[in-house]
Amino acid sequence: MLGRVNHIAIAVPDLAAAVATYRDTLGATVSKPQALPDHGVTVVFVELANTKVELLEPLGDGSPIAAFLEKAPAGGMHHICYEVDDILAARDRLVASGARVLGDGSPKTGAHGKPVLFLHPKDFMGTLVELEQV
Ligand code: CO
Repeated sequence: MLGRVNHIAIAVPDLAAAVATYRDTLGATVSKPQALPDHGVTVVFVELANTKVELLEPLGDGSPIAAFLEKAPAGGMHHICYEVDDILAARDRLVASGARVLGDGSPKTGAHGKPVLFLHPKDFMGTLVELEQV
């Protein structure tokens, strides 16, 4: 069911500072910031040869990463995103096996304009899992 790692996401309290660290200190290529009001975050992508790192900053009230940053004020690893061929088939299989899908269970459009879903961290060894249909 799982394909490649699409990206690893890190929640950050200050996106500009995080971009400077990746671009200037680590010498990486970093995309322009993209506001995703539906997801309550602003994102950039660090482009790597084999995957991407997504840096997430809270956007607006009630951002889903606000509570995370309260517990980890310096930032921290937030989720890992795996690619799937068919997100609805993957969801149905996971739900049938007892896994919990966050939200209303239907895919939303993610940062790449593709359908995404999030799976409950308690069902996946304490790690929030994102699935992206590619
Ligand atoms: Co993501």
